[in-house]
Amino acid sequence: MAMVIDPGVRTEPSQDELQDQLPLLHSNRAYKMAGIGRYHTPGHKGGPGLPAPLAEMLGPAAAFDICDEVEDRSIGNDWDAAVEKAENLAARLYGVDRSFFLVNGTTSGIQALFLAAVGPEDEVILPRDAHWSAVSALILTGARPVYLPTPFDDMLGVPGIPEPSDYAAALAAHPRAKAVFLINPNYYGIAGRLAEIVKLVHERGLPVLVDEAHGPHFPFHPALPLSAVAAGADGVAHSVHKLLGALTQASLLHVRGTRLDPERVAAALRLVTSTSPNPLLCISLDAARWQMAHEGTALLGKALDLALAVRSGLAQIPGLRLWGPEVLGRPGYYDIDPTKIAVDVTGLGLTGFDAEKRLRELGVQVELSDFRHVLALITIGDTPETASRLVEAFRRLAHQGRVASGSPVAVRRMAHLLPRPEVACSPREAYFAPREWVEWRAAAGRVAAEWIAPYPPGIPLVSPGEVVTEAVIEAVCRFSEAGAHLRTFCPGHDPRRGLLVTAR
Ligand SMILES: Cc1ncc(COP(=O)(O)O)c(C=O)c1O
Repeated sequence: MAMVIDPGVRTEPSQDELQDQLPLLHSNRAYKMAGIGRYHTPGHKGGPGLPAPLAEMLGPAAAFDICDEVEDRSIGNDWDAAVEKAENLAARLYGVDRSFFLVNGTTSGIQALFLAAVGPEDEVILPRDAHWSAVSALILTGARPVYLPTPFDDMLGVPGIPEPSDYAAALAAHPRAKAVFLINPNYYGIAGRLAEIVKLVHERGLPVLVDEAHGPHFPFHPALPLSAVAAGADGVAHSVHKLLGALTQASLLHVRGTRLDPERVAAALRLVTSTSPNPLLCISLDAARWQMAHEGTALLGKALDLALAVRSGLAQIPGLRLWGPEVLGRPGYYDIDPTKIAVDVTGLGLTGFDAEKRLRELGVQVELSDFRHVLALITIGDTPETASRLVEAFRRLAHQGRVASGSPVAVRRMAHLLPRPEVACSPREAYFAPREWVEWRAAAGRVAAEWIAPYPPGIPLVSPGEVVTEAVIEAVCRFSEAGAHLRTFCPGHDPRRGLLVTAR
C-alpha cells in the first residue's frame, strides 16, 4: 500500500462546484433533444442507417453518436469549445495545466508526448519493459532508446520498476539525453520510487513523461500509489477506460509545468488523432471525470475493500499463492495497487496461461496470464457478488486437482524471459530499412524490423532495431509453446515461424 500519501489526493467529494458540470455530455444530449435535422456524418444518422443487429445492440446510444456537433449557444454550438471546456475540468480535477481527451487510447498520448519532447537522433531513457506504444513513439520520432533493465525478483515472478539509481546512472552515461520515460505502475500494479526519480531527472532539466495507463485512479484514494501528477511529472497519459468508468479507447493526457510545451503536445495530437473523434468516447471521459470528482474516493474505497476480500479468499485456497503489500521494500518493488491481483497458480501444476483457459471454461475471464500468474482486476465496477464469483472460480479450479502442465522448476526458470536487448540501430532506422521475413532458424544475428510481444501485456520480446539473439528465439519459442497470445507488428505474420528483419 501507499507509503507516501499523495499530497494532491482528494479524500472527500470535490468541493469544486465547477465539477458538477458535464459540458460535453449535456451539449451532445441537447443536440439530440433539439431534434435538429441531420445532414452530416455519421452516415447512420443517429441510428436509422445502422445494420439491424447493431442497432438492436446499441439501442438509444446510437442517437448520441453525433460527429463534431453540439447544442450550446453560449459557445456558438462549437464542438471544439465544448471539448475544451470538458478538458479544462479534467485538468482542474487532476491539478494540471492542460488535459487532452484521447480517442485512440494511451497509445496516442504516449506518441504525442514523445513527439513533443524528442526528435530524430535524440536519446530518451526508458525501461525496456515499456508497452509497445513507446516503441511506436520511437519509430515516429526517430529518437534513440537508452533502455534500462527491468528488475525481476524471482520470488515474485513479476517485473519491478527501475530504481532511482538506475535512472541516475543512465543520465550520467547519456548526458545528451532529452527526456525520460517512466511506467507507473506496471501491468501488475507495481510502482517505483517515482518522486525520487522525477526529482533527479528534473535536476538535470529534463522532462519526465509517464505512462500511467494503469493509474488514472491513483489521485483519488490515499491507499493507492503516488500518482505521477502528484510526483511532479511533466506529461502523464491515463487509460481512463482501463480502470475507471470511460469507454474502451478513451484516455487522458495531462501536461504541467514548463519543461513540456503544451502547444507542441496539442500539435502532436493532431498528427496521431482522427479528425472524427468518437463523441461517445469523449462524453465518457467527461462523465468519468465527473464521477471521480463526486464519488471517486468512495467508489475506490469499495473497490479496495472488495480487492482485499478477494485476496483473503484466494489466500485460503490450497495451491494458490498471492503476494501483496508485504513484499514492498524489495528493490524495484516500492509500492503496489492492491486492486490488481496476481495469483501464482504453479502450486496447482499449471502455468498462468493454462489457468486462464480453465478459468474461462469456469465462466470467468482474467486480464492477463504469464508463466506463473493470472492477473485479475477489481475495479469500481465490481460488487460483492462479482468478488465472490472470482474466488469461487479459483476454488473450482483448485478442486480440478493438480495437473502436470510442465515442471514448476522449468516454469519458474522461464518466468522471466525478457532478453537483454542488443541495440543495433534505432527503431525508426529498422522500420524504414529494406526488410525481409526469415524463419527463426535463420534469424539469429539479424536485426529485427518488427516487434513480437505476448499480448497483453504488450511488452516486446524483441523490438525493431534489436539483434535477434538465441535468447530472443528461445523466449518466443517458450511463450508460443506455453500458449501465450503473441502479436507482431505485421498482423499477417505468424510469430511461431519467423519474423521481419532488416535486409542485409
Ligand atoms: C503499460 C501500458 N501502456 C500503454 C498502453 C496502451 O494503452 P491504450 O490501450 O489505452 O492505448 C497499455 C495497454 O495495455 C499498457 O498496458
